[in-house]
Amino acid sequence: MAEIRTVGVIGAGQMGAGIAQVSAQAGYDVVLYDVSLDLATKGVEKVAAGLERLVSAGKLDAGTRDATIARLKPADGAGDLAPADLVIEAATEKEEIKRRIFAQVCPVLRPDAILASNTSSISITRLASGTDRPERFLGIHFMNPVPVMKLVELVRGIATDDAVFEISKRFVGSLDKTMTISEDFPGFIVNRVLIPMINEAIYTLHEGVGSVESIDASMRLGANHPMGPFQLADFIGLDTCLSIMQVLHDGLADSKYRPCPLLVKYVEAGWLGRKTKRGFYDYRGETPVPTR
Ligand SMILES: NC(=O)c1ccc[n+]([C@@H]2O[C@H](COP(=O)([O-])OP(=O)(O)OC[C@H]3O[C@@H](n4cnc5c(N)ncnc54)[C@H](O)[C@@H]3O)[C@@H](O)[C@H]2O)c1
Repeated sequence: MAEIRTVGVIGAGQMGAGIAQVSAQAGYDVVLYDVSLDLATKGVEKVAAGLERLVSAGKLDAGTRDATIARLKPADGAGDLAPADLVIEAATEKEEIKRRIFAQVCPVLRPDAILASNTSSISITRLASGTDRPERFLGIHFMNPVPVMKLVELVRGIATDDAVFEISKRFVGSLDKTMTISEDFPGFIVNRVLIPMINEAIYTLHEGVGSVESIDASMRLGANHPMGPFQLADFIGLDTCLSIMQVLHDGLADSKYRPCPLLVKYVEAGWLGRKTKRGFYDYRGETPVPTR
């Protein structure tokens, strides 16, 4: 296969819908697959609503919106992924779920189809080894929200074929994204650097060095970060931050990656950030109020 025309996306959640959107906007035919046709259809509707917002904001014309939506098809079962040249898996971040999906989908795909995972933390090499095509498997790691964030990390598994990597690079380039290349180690590049920084901010709070507001203001104004570490942690989700720290701790076996006990406590309380309306800030009122 020389080039990609049809993209299959597995998982119509936050990331899968975004990947489907940017792929369709770039002119690819997209098949969006989830556990049911109903969920896949909801994913397509989510993309349509996102495009509508762009039209309202004057950032997209109605003709391009219609053409983009026409290229998106919800899958009625894994069989609909058969025409895909590239399949990007963006399902729930659980290794056994991803393995089950690959076992179900691989027999449907053409032998030369490329398979990629958008995983944030699972080893690409290990996922690849559970498929029938480790040479045609790689990580294509988009950032959240996909239509807004410019970066995509391309992750080479130990077996990934050079030609497959080159085709994937051209695909990502065609989405108007900037890519970086990461070897397959825990956290890749962005999360390896970002999440320990957030964890350190939580230790700084835990040890009483500063308050939530003073640490956030320090990093916004003193390090020129657009958001403070607690604002960002609440946006990412504290459960996600904790699980990435655990992956770094387990995978790199270095105590410098130990998750801060205060982070664990917030997650145990179910205070997971914006999505539960409470994290390092309380979002239930008009303006966010620090919870410590
Ligand atoms: N959310 C982020 O900030 C972010 C950023 C980069 C990468 N990721 C990665 O993207 C992936 C998806 O994350 P998300 O935030 O979109 O999750 P999400 O929970 O919003 O969506 C996951 C989707 O997968 C579907 N799914 C579950 N089991 C399935 C199956 N067997 N077959 C088909 N679909 C199935 C679910 O129904 C759901 O729609 C994860 O691997 C995550 O690590 C997430």
